[in-house]
Amino acid sequence: MAQAQDMIRLQDVTFAYEYGDPVLEGVSFCIPEGESRVIMGQSGSGKSTILKLLLGLYKPISGEVYIDDEPIGPCSEQHLGDVRKKMGMVFQDGALFDSLTVGENVGFYLIEHENLTIEEVEERVRQVLKVVRLEESLIDKMPEELSGGMQRRVAIARALLATAPKIMLYDEPTTGLDPESATQVLRLMHQLTRERNIATIVVTHQFLDALAIADKFILIDKGVVAFDGSLADLKDSEDKRVTSFLEPFRASLRLMEERRFV
Ligand SMILES: Nc1ncnc2c1ncn2[C@@H]1O[C@H](COP(=O)(O)OP(=O)(O)OP(=O)(O)O)[C@@H](O)[C@H]1O
Ligand SMILES: [Mg+2]
Repeated sequence: MAQAQDMIRLQDVTFAYEYGDPVLEGVSFCIPEGESRVIMGQSGSGKSTILKLLLGLYKPISGEVYIDDEPIGPCSEQHLGDVRKKMGMVFQDGALFDSLTVGENVGFYLIEHENLTIEEVEERVRQVLKVVRLEESLIDKMPEELSGGMQRRVAIARALLATAPKIMLYDEPTTGLDPESATQVLRLMHQLTRERNIATIVVTHQFLDALAIADKFILIDKGVVAFDGSLADLKDSEDKRVTSFLEPFRASLRLMEERRFV
């Protein structure tokens, strides 16, 4: 049985895109509030598809996705909109609007959906910029004037302000960032998970970055869960799918563990 505090739960989820073979088969895992999972796996193994199912963009063929203990399969499109408000999503490229300022990007959903004055929106934007440790003076800058790491933090600020999320989903959040910027983004993700009690999923190919923040790791191999557990168990695993995944990282693993915040 699921624990009451599980924010995310996949139960025996099988999924195929239209006319295709199954992309996910019998996938189950759960994530309590305040914990993070890194989802790893080869390109095409089905990681981003899991995020799409969590957002309710697609429905499983069989099995069920639970958000905050609620099965989302039977949800109406309208109710799904409410469920999605519990989730913040940060896409790989940051996906900022090039033609809008930092402030307009961060406040975008407030301006669109909430009945607030410009001053109220600006005040909330300034508050959330502090949370992601960006200077307030950046509010009038254009995204192209910011570094990659700053852009990623603006994207996180936007997700936070849009939803006050209980769940954060990050798809490749540190890809393309220099080590210093990556560390700042990782630290922020970790703080949000702990301080706001958010259930966090990070999809990444950057295994060494994943080490810095993950409570536990999930390895997806050809659409099935090959591993779900702690770093210690991951390192000790004799499952061939795990050992071949870890092989390229063995040498640097011990050194990099010093970067862990958890
Ligand atoms: N919209 C779609 N329609 C049909 N097939 C898709 C669609 N999106 C993804 N797929 C297929 O589903 C499988 C899993 O894709 P997914 O994007 O989940 O992989 P991934 O693990 O995120 O890969 P990567 O690490 O490259 O981002 C792949 O075989 C892909 O070709
Ligand atoms: Mg992907």
